[in-house]
Amino acid sequence: MKRRLETELMTDAAQVKAYAEADFVAPNQHFIECLINFIDNPAFCGHALDLGCGPGDISLRFVQHFTQAYVDALDGSVPMLDYAKAACPPALATRCQFLAGYIPTAALPRNHYEVIFSNSLLHHLPNPNSLWQTIKHVSQSGTRVVIMDLMRPESEQHAHDLVETYAKNEPAILQHDFYYSLLAAFNINEITDQLHYLQLPFTCQASTDRHLLITGVMP
Ligand SMILES: C[S@@+](CC[C@H](N)C(=O)[O-])C[C@H]1O[C@@H](n2cnc3c(N)ncnc32)[C@H](O)[C@@H]1O
Repeated sequence: MKRRLETELMTDAAQVKAYAEADFVAPNQHFIECLINFIDNPAFCGHALDLGCGPGDISLRFVQHFTQAYVDALDGSVPMLDYAKAACPPALATRCQFLAGYIPTAALPRNHYEVIFSNSLLHHLPNPNSLWQTIKHVSQSGTRVVIMDLMRPESEQHAHDLVETYAKNEPAILQHDFYYSLLAAFNINEITDQLHYLQLPFTCQASTDRHLLITGVMP
């Protein structure tokens, strides 16, 4: 099945509300556990960048876990960032900065980050190089990169089956978005080619039946 693009920025009010209020505890916790494992340093106290942070749940989990770390969390959707800022406890606001900006052209507060992560952004991008070039631009030797995204199924029927399995009790708008996000996602071979072309020494593997995980350390 060929990739079918979906809307890039999530700015529609109903879509943002449904996404921000959905229960993503399990997948977000799964992502955070992969991130913690890959950082492999319980005392991490550096600066991290969250690309396509959406309503900010993962950025906040990050600074709650790493209690001396900082995160700059970037998204091109102001309505998404409004949810993120509202969800941020005042005590975390000094370590978690939500920023409006479009990838790959956004200006970032720092030149380099020690950790760069992103969940569920890649499939939104018409050109995946927007993500890979941004990572190259704001990383340094040793930067740890953890990217998770949906993995495009073989067929529309398989996408329908995944929606039925994992989202059948969700609101219709979330089921709709999940289905079209699956169709917009890349598969492992495509991502492996993208990484190879840009000489990024990352590995890409399936982490569930619908997610893939890309990890690596910048040389
Ligand atoms: C599916 S949400 C994921 C949000 C969050 N990472 C999470 O896991 O809950 C994708 C987010 O990426 C943002 N996005 C898509 N393309 C973008 C771009 N080129 N620049 C900045 N943000 C973008 C969307 O606005 C949306 O908030």
